[in-house]
Amino acid sequence: MYAKIAPSILSADHGDMTAEAVRAEQWGADWLHVDIMDGKFAPNLTFGPGLVKAIRPKVAIPLDCHLMLAEPEKYVERFVEAGADYVSVHAEAVTHTSLSYIQDVIKKYNRKLGIAFKPATPLSSVDLKNYDVSMMLIMSVNPGFSGQKFLPEVIPKVREASKNLSAKSNRHLEIEVDGGVDLSNARLLCENGATVLVAGNSVFAQRDREAAFKELKRLVGASI
Ligand code: DX5
Ligand code: ZN
Repeated sequence: MYAKIAPSILSADHGDMTAEAVRAEQWGADWLHVDIMDGKFAPNLTFGPGLVKAIRPKVAIPLDCHLMLAEPEKYVERFVEAGADYVSVHAEAVTHTSLSYIQDVIKKYNRKLGIAFKPATPLSSVDLKNYDVSMMLIMSVNPGFSGQKFLPEVIPKVREASKNLSAKSNRHLEIEVDGGVDLSNARLLCENGATVLVAGNSVFAQRDREAAFKELKRLVGASI
């Protein structure tokens, strides 16, 4: 069992973001999760491509941009230009036409497309075989804020998503779980097929953040 950990900088110190990103990388973060919200798709406003651009040269780990935007097709190119490696757009916010366009933009820059699902959205809402999807992002809280309670009802969805993984054994598909991940559920998520765990408050809101990160990472199989 092994999963990557992607600390979510939504929970980091917003006055010191590039240094926070560097710290997370030094602790051993596999990816950095960046939540982009427009106040429309999600009831919160967060970051723009400028932050992604500022962080990009400071760390080597992949930048995992989670676009909680009502019109992701309008902004996707700005995020890939800024240096996003994974760009996830929400199943609830795309049509076949907009997702095809988003896919083309991401391909042009040789980056990776993720499809994100709110807790109540079934995986069947996007026909994955029509797209070149590198990640399924299963939200285990409703979009908006860090520090919400994990919704255990999404676990069967994680398992279902991981079946796609074995079906697509010829190429790698990441299964990311996002929201309320902590020491109490991380192992269970891995056992059900998660390959990447997003961690906001369970890392950044702890007194000893480095120790909290390392404990989580050890729990999901890393030897650090
Ligand atoms: C919620 C965001 C999450 C959030 C996770 O809308 O998508 O990525 O930062 O934070 P925690 O781990 O505190 O739930
Ligand atoms: Zn997120």
